[in-house]
Amino acid sequence: MNIKGIVLAGGTGSRLMPLTKVTNKHLLPVGRMPMIYHPIGKLTGAGIEEILVVTGTDHMGDMVNLLGSGKDFKCRFTYKVQDEAGGIAQALSLAENFCRGDPMAVILGDNIFEDSLKPYAAAFRAQKVGARILGKEVDDPERFGVAEVAGDRVLSIEEKPRKPKSRIAVTGIYFYDARVFEIIRTCQPSGRGELEITDVNNAYIRLREMKFDMMQGWWSDAGTFASLAHVNRLVADRPPKN
Ligand code: DAU
Repeated sequence: MNIKGIVLAGGTGSRLMPLTKVTNKHLLPVGRMPMIYHPIGKLTGAGIEEILVVTGTDHMGDMVNLLGSGKDFKCRFTYKVQDEAGGIAQALSLAENFCRGDPMAVILGDNIFEDSLKPYAAAFRAQKVGARILGKEVDDPERFGVAEVAGDRVLSIEEKPRKPKSRIAVTGIYFYDARVFEIIRTCQPSGRGELEITDVNNAYIRLREMKFDMMQGWWSDAGTFASLAHVNRLVADRPPKN
């Protein structure tokens, strides 16, 4: 099974203004590297060598200058422009031609984590069809997609619920088969005007084709001042494994 890699690095980065006034959030430093090096390292560490980077029009030039063809990362990059920040599922829809029927590992460009992606990618390879997501217990679940689980089954996911049913955040690391593009076509924009990845994941849950792992090591997003500072401390104290 040839798994393609996708890093979603669009969006506005508005919660990090003015750091993101003249650059893209995913180019800001995390540890000794630009943020986007972290998800790329996870994909290449799991043997994924064809990687699509999706970002907005404003900073695509800087992104290409930074990453190049991929030869420095032992992979091959393809780039796609997301014209407007229409949501994570909308950004993912741009990957359809790139995937050409192959399954994919998707990482949100601001998700930084300790675990290697290898065992999770191996589990996804073994399941052959459907989707797989990774959960992590957090203190502030209302900031995330929150999974209601029973044993190793996910019953439902709620996006940023006011009263979370658990403390398990759905991390921004997703495995999908190529049917994800059909599913995205059935999605409608949410209240915030975005195509939500949570709606895509709930569609796989309804099909009973969603599998789920809990992450072992630390995980954080880096989209706010607090989480960006936190993740910089984590990277220094317990460096991620690729
Ligand atoms: O970090 C995990 C969380 O990410 C999940 O628990 C949520 O279910 C999921 O919706 C998402 O929540 P956020 O509200 O934190 O996502 P945010 O809008 O900050 O976008 C996260 C990344 O996704 C961002 O770094 C780049 C990419 N993105 C986002 C949007 C809205 C795009 O590439 N294009 C977009 O239009």
